[in-house]
Amino acid sequence: MSPAMKLPILIHPDPRLKAVASPVADIDDGLRRLADDMLETMYAAPGIGLAAPQIGIGQRLIVLDCVKEEGAAPRPIAMFNPEVVATSDERSVYEEGCLSIPDIYAEVERPAEATVRWIDRDGNAREETFDGIWATCVQHEIDHLDGKLFIDYLGPMKRQMITRKMVKLKKERAREAG
Ligand code: NI
Repeated sequence: MSPAMKLPILIHPDPRLKAVASPVADIDDGLRRLADDMLETMYAAPGIGLAAPQIGIGQRLIVLDCVKEEGAAPRPIAMFNPEVVATSDERSVYEEGCLSIPDIYAEVERPAEATVRWIDRDGNAREETFDGIWATCVQHEIDHLDGKLFIDYLGPMKRQMITRKMVKLKKERAREAG
């Protein structure tokens, strides 16, 4: 197999980022390849999570690796059809960003722990309870599969201001690309 490929990431606003993604049927080589390309794209960005709709693919697939400690082994995870099955009452606040909303960060409150069920790249059912930055990241990525962005948790004024900035950024990039 050829090495994993970096894919272009969609920038908000884009209707493909607002659509609900479809469940994945069978995990085949094409989907494993897509997961590898998404991980490559995420690490190159650099980012800690990426959802298939962000590269224009309306399927329920996310990748993440929230290991931040210098020198620690990476932990790339690909989740097909991920589902949050339980959350803690305790909440936590993290400053979130998104590869589809470059250079914008805002505090979002979410459950501090999330139990997620998914199918792994070998087709096995998995379940794990995440906390800390992993809990925030996995909930943020699963939101993408339902057409939801982190700015949807902000007030309408702030959201509109960010959207206007992104429209401007996209125009600038289109102009630069000639
Ligand atoms: Ni995102």
